[in-house]
Amino acid sequence: MTADADIIDELRVAGLLGEGDIVLDPLTGGVSCDVWKVESLVGPIVVKRPLPQLRVAAEWLAPVERGTSEVRWLRRARGVDSMIAPEVLAELPGHAFAMRFLPGCPVWKDELMAGRIDSAFAAQVGTGIAAVHAATADNDGDRADFANDEMFRALRVDPFLLYVARHDADLAPALTALADDLSGRKIALVHGDVSPKNILVSADGPIFLDAECAVYGDPAFDLAFCTTHLLLKAVWSGDVRLNEAAAALVAAYRAGIDWEDAGDILLRSGKLTAALILARVDGKSPAPYLTDPEHKHVVRDQARALIRAPEPVDALVTHWKRTLA
Ligand SMILES: Nc1ncnc2c1ncn2[C@@H]1O[C@H](COP(=O)(O)OP(=O)(O)O)[C@@H](O)[C@H]1O
Ligand SMILES: [Mg+2]
Repeated sequence: MTADADIIDELRVAGLLGEGDIVLDPLTGGVSCDVWKVESLVGPIVVKRPLPQLRVAAEWLAPVERGTSEVRWLRRARGVDSMIAPEVLAELPGHAFAMRFLPGCPVWKDELMAGRIDSAFAAQVGTGIAAVHAATADNDGDRADFANDEMFRALRVDPFLLYVARHDADLAPALTALADDLSGRKIALVHGDVSPKNILVSADGPIFLDAECAVYGDPAFDLAFCTTHLLLKAVWSGDVRLNEAAAALVAAYRAGIDWEDAGDILLRSGKLTAALILARVDGKSPAPYLTDPEHKHVVRDQARALIRAPEPVDALVTHWKRTLA
């Protein structure tokens, strides 16, 4: 029996499919999972099954248990605000799961790349991430449910921070210290992949997907990860509205910080943003759209300077240049 036939059987066992012909319609975009859309008895659903090896050029192994981390994050986030994550309908063998398909919701990355840049939406993203952080800060249950440090190290700390450190003796001490600091902080539930390609744009605001890297850790990471994407796209497009969107994201996030001093987390987030930005030009997973050498130069120059002389993420965003002129 093929793997796809297995999935159909499993969905039948879960009561989501009747008899008759079923079409698994692959959804594009993912490198780490099989993702299909299926017409089910309860309407369109998405089935997601983690792959043991990511589909990227460099070898990159990842334990399939991350599928279960994602389910836990989606459920926990819906507990905070039912509008910000899709409903999980069933857990399936092999850490696969089914969730409700959200119709008519474009991926935020596609909107941004098409020049539809909405700062109010970026602010809602900041509010949504901060709401999950605030609700889970200093929570022993969440700390126990998301003790995924090994996974976070393999999928985030190592490829994004330590990979660059290994290839850059000059910045290695700062990046290694940053990686240690990140790994040591257990403050709130981190999504781990807050990228515009993992956010759907609904009429009611952002819907967060793809929480395979969820960990109880430093919330500064999520803000940094998302800010990084907006600032890279600002260089790629030269569009000032992306700087404005990044500023709106950070300001809205800041307004939601109630678990620690805002100055502390914004500085940690600024350091992480600088490191993640550099990782997107010189790291293991470079941003696919940053191919122009001039763009890379603009990004690399600023990121290196910011790693040496860190700024809080709000100041970093304000000072971020789209060109060197
Ligand atoms: N519940 C959903 N409703 C609508 N589209 C979805 C849903 N879940 C995933 N998608 C689409 O599938 C794509 C891949 O899903 P994602 O969870 O990000 O998987 P991957 O880990 O492979 O990136 C998303 O970018 C989005 O376009
Ligand atoms: Mg994704």
